[in-house]
Amino acid sequence: MGTPQEPRLAVEISGINLRNPLLVSSGTFGNGREYSEWLDLGMVGGIITKAVTLLPCNGNPPPRLWEVPCGLLNSIGLENKGVEAFLAEDLAWLNRFDVPVWVNVAGFSDEEYVAVAGMISDSGMADAIELNISCPNVKQGGLHYSSSPREAARLTAMVQKAVNLPLYVKLSARTADIKEMAVEVQKAGADGLSLINTFPAMAIDVETGRARLANVSGGLSGPALHPIAVLAVWEVAQVVDIPIIGMGGVWSWKDAAELMMAGADAVAVGTLNFVDPEAAFRIAEDLGSFAARKGFESVSELVGLTRRGGIV
Ligand SMILES: Cc1cc2nc3c(=O)[nH]c(=O)nc-3n(C[C@H](O)[C@H](O)[C@H](O)COP(=O)(O)O)c2cc1C
Repeated sequence: MGTPQEPRLAVEISGINLRNPLLVSSGTFGNGREYSEWLDLGMVGGIITKAVTLLPCNGNPPPRLWEVPCGLLNSIGLENKGVEAFLAEDLAWLNRFDVPVWVNVAGFSDEEYVAVAGMISDSGMADAIELNISCPNVKQGGLHYSSSPREAARLTAMVQKAVNLPLYVKLSARTADIKEMAVEVQKAGADGLSLINTFPAMAIDVETGRARLANVSGGLSGPALHPIAVLAVWEVAQVVDIPIIGMGGVWSWKDAAELMMAGADAVAVGTLNFVDPEAAFRIAEDLGSFAARKGFESVSELVGLTRRGGIV
C-alpha cells in the first residue's frame, strides 16, 4: 500500500480504486522510473504511461519543445521503445508499485492499435488502456482518427474487441463537435474518456523567420489549455455516462476542482510534472482540504457540481 490518504480523497472509476483523483498524464511522467527518485509512485492516484507503439519510434527531430507564455509547445511525436521492450522493462517494473496504471496506446494504422492494445491487455500488467487517437504530432494515426467521429468509433470498436480491460479514449478539442465525437466513441464501446490532448499550435522566431519547432507545429499544453479543457469536459459530461479523466493545464487544486465541477470523475496533471514532480500528490492533498472545508464527505461530490446548481 502506498501512502495512506484520507478516505475523502478515494475515488472509483471503471471498477478501479484510486487513492485520490489525481493521475499523471501521458508523456509527462515518463514511465515513472525517473520520477520514482523523487516520490513514492503510490502517492499519485494513477499513472498514465507514455504512448507506446508496436515498433520502436524515434519521434520527431529536435527542437521539439518551445515554451510560450502560459504554456508549452511539444512535437515529441510518439518517441518510445516499442511495445515488447515496454512490457518487459517498464510495465513489469511499474507493477511493483501499488498504483493503477493506464497504458497510452498509439499507432500508425488500425492494425497497429489493435495489436498493441491486445498485447497490453494480455500481459495482465495494466489496469486500463488509454487509446491515443489525438496526438497532433504525427502524420498518420493521431488526429486523423479524432477529427472524424466515424473513424474514431470504428477504431474504438476494433480495439474494444481485442482487449479485456477498461478502454479509455483520449480526445482532442481540435474537432468540429467534441460532443458528437464522445457520443460515437461511447456507442462504439469506450469505457471512459480522457479529455483533452494538446491543441495544435505554432511559434515563429521572428529574427530568423523560421518555425521554433523542427516539426513546424506542435501541441500546446499548460495553463493556456485549461479553459478549453474545462469547456470540453463540461460539454461532453452532458452527453455521455462513462467516466471522464479531465486534463489540460492543471496547475493547482482549483484547476482540478474546476474540471471535476465541470464533470470530470478524475483529473490528470501534465506539464506541471516537469516543474514539480510531486505536483499531483500535492494537488490531491489540497483538493482534500478544500472538500473538507466545504463539508463534503467525498471529493466525488464535486463531480458535475456546476450542472447541479453549484454549492448551495
Ligand atoms: C512533452 C509532452 C508529451 C506528451 N506525450 C503524450 C503522449 O505520449 N500521449 C498522449 O496521449 N498525450 C501526450 N501528451 C499530452 C498530455 O498527456 C496532456 O493531455 C496534455 O499535455 C494536457 O495536459 P497539461 O496541459 O496538464 O500538460 C504529452 C504532453 C506533453 C507536454
